[in-house]
Amino acid sequence: MGKNTLNHDTVGLDDDKNALFIIDQTKLPNDVEILYLTKLEDIHRAIYLLQVRGAPAIGVAAAIGLYIAAKDFDVDCWEGFYEQLKAAKNYLASARPTAVNLFWALDRMEQTAVRSKTLALCEIKKALHDEALRIRDEDIAVCRAIGEHGLTLLKNGDGILTHCNAGQLAAVRYGTALAPVHLGRERGMNFRVFTDETRPLLQGARLSAFELVADGVDTTLICDNMASQVLKNGWVNIIFTGCDRVAANGDAANKIGTSGLAILAKHYGVPFYVCAPFSTIDMTAKSGADIVIEQRPPDEVTELWYERRMAPRGVNVYNPAFDVTDSELITGFVTENGIMRPPFYK
Ligand code: MRU
Repeated sequence: MGKNTLNHDTVGLDDDKNALFIIDQTKLPNDVEILYLTKLEDIHRAIYLLQVRGAPAIGVAAAIGLYIAAKDFDVDCWEGFYEQLKAAKNYLASARPTAVNLFWALDRMEQTAVRSKTLALCEIKKALHDEALRIRDEDIAVCRAIGEHGLTLLKNGDGILTHCNAGQLAAVRYGTALAPVHLGRERGMNFRVFTDETRPLLQGARLSAFELVADGVDTTLICDNMASQVLKNGWVNIIFTGCDRVAANGDAANKIGTSGLAILAKHYGVPFYVCAPFSTIDMTAKSGADIVIEQRPPDEVTELWYERRMAPRGVNVYNPAFDVTDSELITGFVTENGIMRPPFYK
């Protein structure tokens, strides 16, 4: 990590405490609090409540969480172990529906257990431990590689617009959409980054602005409805966002508001790049229509963050957490293997 970036992994395993540790993102930017979670229910709740959030981070958290649960299974045969493992896996998978990395990481953990099923239970647990750490380490390497490829699209002084938080707080380190910025900073480059506040949960204001300012980046916070004006002013050379799931045809689900931004980008002729690990591509989804979009509780829109409720009781609220950006609006995907264009099948 660069000297100015947050000096702590967003998510990891504390073997001494036998705990998943996370930076509690609901407390940012005012308090940097580390939570140590040892119970499956607490890990599920942390993912649901977005104490840990961002597609890569919840994949790593779930993998470590499944290992922590499995370590304590009180069974003496593979069949009993596997039954409990599948129950715990399904429970964690139910925490959020859209980010495919959650299911991808949990599948990897299950496959690891199945591959080791002829071994003693303690060795199966060790294999799960090592796989969870491998998923974490791969995430760091993948995000760094995304940063390297993304940096080839930037020059010193560029204006960048981003949405939600796809930075180091959404992964273990570096992040995806903000990885090029953090790597550029390590090399002495300067950028001007505009971050949408990202209603209703304010990941842009609370998280992206926090980590960018910590990295010494010239950061400007805008309300979501100001993006059009900022683009019209000509202040943005490129847009980088993350994503939660990419369909085989290149439609990409990301934080609500992303697709509107892509439409604006096309109007103003600004390149729009989605930065994501290959594990985010879901080949079982042919198009965006196959991606499940999470619906969140109404109070996130009407009262959360406000001192007093800001909408009359009885009003209907529509609160989808994600939207799907059509493939043709996306200039390219910045992945760990380079910059690509869909479709991903062939
Ligand atoms: O609801 P969140 O905060 O988990 O949504 C996160 C996003 O939409 C990110 O852009 C996405 O997960 C990519 S993170 C590298």
